[in-house]
Amino acid sequence: MEVAFISLIFSFSYVTEIGGVDIWWTGSRLHELPSPLPSVGAPLTGSSIVPYRYHFNTVTFGYTTAFWTFDKWSLLLDWLALRGVNLPLAWVGYEAILIETFREVGLTDADIGSFLSGPAFQPWNRFGNIQGAWGGELPMQWVNDQFALQKQIVARMVELGMTPILPSFTGFVPRAMTTLFPNASIVNGSQWSGFPSSLTNVTFLEPFDPLFPQIQKSFIAKQQAAYGNVSHFYTLDQYNENDPFSGNTSYLASITSNTFASLREADPEAIWVMQGWLFFNSLAFWTDERVEAFLGGVPEDDSMLILDLYSEAQPQWNRTNSYFGKSWVWCELHDFGGNMGMEGNLPAITTGPIASLNWPGSSMKGIGLSMEGQELGNEIVYDIVLDQAWSSSALNISGYVEKWVSRRYPAKSLPPAAQKAWSILSTTVYNNQNPNTQATIKSIFEKAPALTGLANITGSHAVSLDVAKLAHASRFDRSSYHHYLV
Ligand SMILES: *[C@@H]1O[C@H](CO)[C@@H](O)[C@H](O)[C@H]1NC(C)=O
Ligand SMILES: *[C@@H]1O[C@H](CO)[C@@H](O)[C@H](O)[C@H]1NC(C)=O
Ligand SMILES: *[C@@H]1O[C@H](CO)[C@@H](O)[C@H](O)[C@H]1NC(C)=O
Ligand SMILES: *[C@@H]1O[C@H](CO)[C@@H](O)[C@H](O)[C@H]1NC(C)=O
Ligand SMILES: *[C@@H]1O[C@H](CO)[C@@H](O)[C@H](O)[C@H]1NC(C)=O
Ligand SMILES: *[C@@H]1O[C@H](CO)[C@@H](O)[C@H](O)[C@H]1NC(C)=O
Ligand SMILES: *[C@@H]1O[C@H](CO)[C@@H](O)[C@H](O)[C@H]1NC(C)=O
Ligand SMILES: *[C@@H]1O[C@H](CO)[C@@H](O)[C@H](O)[C@H]1NC(C)=O
Repeated sequence: MEVAFISLIFSFSYVTEIGGVDIWWTGSRLHELPSPLPSVGAPLTGSSIVPYRYHFNTVTFGYTTAFWTFDKWSLLLDWLALRGVNLPLAWVGYEAILIETFREVGLTDADIGSFLSGPAFQPWNRFGNIQGAWGGELPMQWVNDQFALQKQIVARMVELGMTPILPSFTGFVPRAMTTLFPNASIVNGSQWSGFPSSLTNVTFLEPFDPLFPQIQKSFIAKQQAAYGNVSHFYTLDQYNENDPFSGNTSYLASITSNTFASLREADPEAIWVMQGWLFFNSLAFWTDERVEAFLGGVPEDDSMLILDLYSEAQPQWNRTNSYFGKSWVWCELHDFGGNMGMEGNLPAITTGPIASLNWPGSSMKGIGLSMEGQELGNEIVYDIVLDQAWSSSALNISGYVEKWVSRRYPAKSLPPAAQKAWSILSTTVYNNQNPNTQATIKSIFEKAPALTGLANITGSHAVSLDVAKLAHASRFDRSSYHHYLV
């Protein structure tokens, strides 16, 4: 499998570096490879600078893929494999196994139905931010269809040489658990985003309760039976935008030590994958002392893999002494709330991973993408991050962009304007150095026409860039504007 994977990456390098054409998410110039095929010359060699190349954000499964069919999945998985991703997140179909596990402990379908959220809102239910659905319960037909889809997705990931990061039991349970198990250690999570307590303050079974490992083992056994023994990586977030019941450091350490013990009871080689977003989002709660106690509850450094979710703008690894030794992944994050716009910080995403890796005592083990929504566009950002994972020095941005443009667009008719336009984009929208723009860039063209209120409102943060310069990029060769800016 590993051999197949490596050869896939080198085939892609041949196509792009030597063949001079590209294969992207929605298209390909593979048919334009020169004939006869150019010789390789010196053998292609290369290796990744990190063991893990990661992809997805838990919320992408709501913002982007909630209603995808396997055709769309298949296309994206090919795109990931060609770019060397070996550790993608695989959340689809979670509820099917969770429902079975809940039924087993005695919860009724009505109890469970009142807990689960609708398709587009599931990430926040999985995070324990919200519970319940409005406008009817999650249909079982949908749950079953998603389960069948996940079987296809996981099989395809494995076939492409990738290791899926699979779900696990987090501790979030239907309210009825408190009446079913009156003596169990159960607390309410905090309130999320102003929701009424009936829809938030999600019920949390504390990991030191004996029921927790019992449910974990059952969940993971069912999951292994469904997808095969294909991964030891488990995504598990308990405090994402949700503060712990207590800030007592011994409480926090006991949460993680017991959660981790439950994973290892279920899978002796389990690795706990967790987003590091909480440490940024809830900075006031997560003092260094609490972070250290929380992470310290898990015994070995490589038993955890933390996603440093917003490394290019709000890194947390550098304030936590490289997560106090736990392994972590350098991630690029934008498209907040699934809002799409051209945005990136090419200097930060090329120099950042290298500086982090070379930091004395760094426990960084991966590079990846954690964009909230992923749609067409911004592929230059994704390509350069994933290519940076294969280069021990920071990639040369202008050189990279030039090659990227020439392999992407028809070479014979490529006007110089295409290169000029991309040179402007790469130094404006893709050179966003402001860490406070919250990575949500919304084009004015996407909005309803108005004379006021077009900027500086939620979801449309101001960006400091030279608009006149950017407008210039779109003026070159108007007739082909569309072709060169997508
Ligand atoms: C809960 O604990 C109380 C007091 O220890 C005990 O009397 C009761 O039987 C327990 N209930 C259950 C359901 O275990
Ligand atoms: C959790 O919240 C519910 C209301 O939604 C409340 O009835 C219950 O008492 C709370 N439980 C705890 C342990 O605070
Ligand atoms: C919900 O969480 C908030 C803290 O975020 C807390 O003040 C409130 O008491 C909680 N409500 C319930 C019903 O648990
Ligand atoms: C799963 O694979 C691991 C090796 O990666 C092995 O130790 C374990 O016994 C396998 N479990 C099952 C249920 O086959
Ligand atoms: C934290 O919890 C432990 C164990 O329950 C307790 O002994 C200790 O006094 C608590 N510390 C604080 C500061 O409350
Ligand atoms: C971590 O790095 C970021 C980005 O370079 C910087 O803004 C922040 O001040 C650094 N934090 C610490 C504690 O060094
Ligand atoms: C980066 O590439 C450009 C264009 O290919 C070249 O002019 C420049 O010298 C390179 N910069 C460095 C630092 O290598
Ligand atoms: C948006 O807000 C920023 C900061 O408050 C301000 O500098 C800028 O002028 C505002 N932009 C617009 C278009 O109102």
